[in-house]
Amino acid sequence: MSDDDVQLEARLAEQDVFEPPESFVEQANVTDEGIYEEFEENWPECWEGAADLLDWDSDYDQVLDDSNPPFYEWFTGGSLNASANCLDRHLDERGDEAAIEWVGEPTDEDDITYTYEELHREVNEFAAALRDQGVGEDDVVTMYMPMIPQLPIAMLACARIGAPHSVVFAGFSADALATRMNAADSEYLVTCDGYYRRGDPLDHLDKANEGLAGVDHDVETVVVAERLREGDGFDHDYADNQVAFDDLQSEHAGASVDPVSRDAEDMLFLMYTSGTTGEPKGVKHTTGGYLAWSAWTSQAVLDIKPEDTYFCSADIGWITGHSYIVYGPLALGTTTMMYEGTPDYPDKDRLWEIVEEYEATQLYTAPTAIRAFMRWGSEYPDSHDLSSLRLLGTVGEPINPRAWKWYYQNIGDEECPVVDTWWQTETGGMMVTTLPGVKDMKPGSAGPPLPGVDVQIVDVDGEEVEAGRAGYLTVQKPWPGMLRTLYKNDERFIDEYWREYSDVDSDDPEDWVYFPEDGAKIDDDGYITVLGRVDDVINVSGHRLGTMEIESAIVGVEGVAEAAVVGGDHEIKGEAVYAYVITEDGADEDEALRQAIIEGVEDAIGPIARPEAVIFTPELPKTRSGKIMRRLLEDIANGEDLGDTSTLRNPDVVSDIQAKVSDD
Ligand code: PRX
Repeated sequence: MSDDDVQLEARLAEQDVFEPPESFVEQANVTDEGIYEEFEENWPECWEGAADLLDWDSDYDQVLDDSNPPFYEWFTGGSLNASANCLDRHLDERGDEAAIEWVGEPTDEDDITYTYEELHREVNEFAAALRDQGVGEDDVVTMYMPMIPQLPIAMLACARIGAPHSVVFAGFSADALATRMNAADSEYLVTCDGYYRRGDPLDHLDKANEGLAGVDHDVETVVVAERLREGDGFDHDYADNQVAFDDLQSEHAGASVDPVSRDAEDMLFLMYTSGTTGEPKGVKHTTGGYLAWSAWTSQAVLDIKPEDTYFCSADIGWITGHSYIVYGPLALGTTTMMYEGTPDYPDKDRLWEIVEEYEATQLYTAPTAIRAFMRWGSEYPDSHDLSSLRLLGTVGEPINPRAWKWYYQNIGDEECPVVDTWWQTETGGMMVTTLPGVKDMKPGSAGPPLPGVDVQIVDVDGEEVEAGRAGYLTVQKPWPGMLRTLYKNDERFIDEYWREYSDVDSDDPEDWVYFPEDGAKIDDDGYITVLGRVDDVINVSGHRLGTMEIESAIVGVEGVAEAAVVGGDHEIKGEAVYAYVITEDGADEDEALRQAIIEGVEDAIGPIARPEAVIFTPELPKTRSGKIMRRLLEDIANGEDLGDTSTLRNPDVVSDIQAKVSDD
């Protein structure tokens, strides 16, 4: 680091509040602080502006129907099509402009630009093909695909014909695919032959086929996008119900499919996410409210304009990619980027190379990535011209002030606001973050709730806590992008998100409070710092994993009697999986079993859930009533002082486990 850099870092280290850079404010989409008061006074009609960002086939009669909480309905009576909103309406003015800039991992030769015209054509052809395969309105089409262009094409094709999609992250295991297809009764799958990771082709179809073997109903059609280059492919004979994506599209070359007019409340997609039980939750998002929410937040927070080249480095397999690679940006008619690979291939400056080459105007990424960039060193971004960037964003987990400042300084050159955006799969889009042209930024704190979003930090009784005290984050009023229910499970929807702080027998919406299961605190200026999950969900590299899911994978391994999984602090990933395992009598606590456990987890969920540490222990610390003391296991993983453990049923076990963790 040069002397100047050292001085700069020292100066930033002491600064707690950052004003929005003037050059940004001058051109920002939202600059009037009055929006907060205006939205509060004019709630819920304040959301008409978000709906106005969309083209409606028929107008809605009511902004919000809250007559049956928590089953809120938004923009009722209105109808629209998401694919027409993301494509058709931009054709006149933006037909020749890039809709998607796709960057393949291996080399420039793989890059593809899809103009709005081209994307529209591809989507129409694939929509015609899907229909021809028997996909009808409301049939759930599962997609198990990595970051290749056929994924957004397939999503928009589904949206066009009114078939909800359910995208399963490509890094998830075959079992995870089967579980999700079974839960959704999905009879159609779109997948691919493979993709590239750090230069090597990966066989994805093999995993997809293994997953299909676990599907408990007939699967009508499996469409396989052929991504691998000639010579890199793996040997697979297609089964009778399997067909190549390209072949299907060519059969429907030039086809035109009228977008199906969908009711605002019709399902646009399902997304499975982890919860406290082993069973993933099928979060249902709708056409009107979700699209309005992703478009409005893209405009107000990410400051997206049609002429931008906006880059979100998330994977479309997660909600961030749905809302902020596909739907929000395309609804606004901008250019959205997609990168297939990892940020360190062929070298650790790959993202910066992409930003420079495409002159990206925004970058939206995860704190985990930022912490890795920090560790790799500023020489990587320094060797590229990043001056095209205007705004930076983070999502998925808390960002520590040091990483925030590094990002602000080294990537944004102190000229770009950083938006730390708190939200969830369930919220559909951003909820708590600064409006970048309006609000000061406080590193470490996501910011105030967005205008019209009513967040309170409360104690166990639902009473607001004082500024500075830790409490639970709650959302007191509904919002258009909210999930409508858990697929085919209204009861679980109420149990998971509402029961804690609502009067569930009441039909007065005032009595209903949404609980996202995050801890948080608020300061005197109303800025919220999110402290993390308060349920048994851990956040590894910004990805949500249920500890129960991991535990059930571990106890499925031969030789394991019991397991408890907790999140331990991790420098890069934020949290890492710590597995405490009790073996069955006679089983050896050896390396072979440790490996079998790791593989068991990878098979059941995927490599993201791979335990960082497997600690064999004769017992787990339990309360007198027999409950596992997870908090204690977390403290042990983090090497923290444990305080008084005498109230445990088995206090002696603690020091044994501590010794094992420190040996590890
Ligand atoms: O704990 C919060 C954390 O991620 C959870 C949501 O995970 P998921 O549904 O997978 O969606 C991730 C992308 C939106 C939240 O309950 N989280 C998300 N954003 C932040 C965050 N924690 C702190 N700060 C954030 N900005």
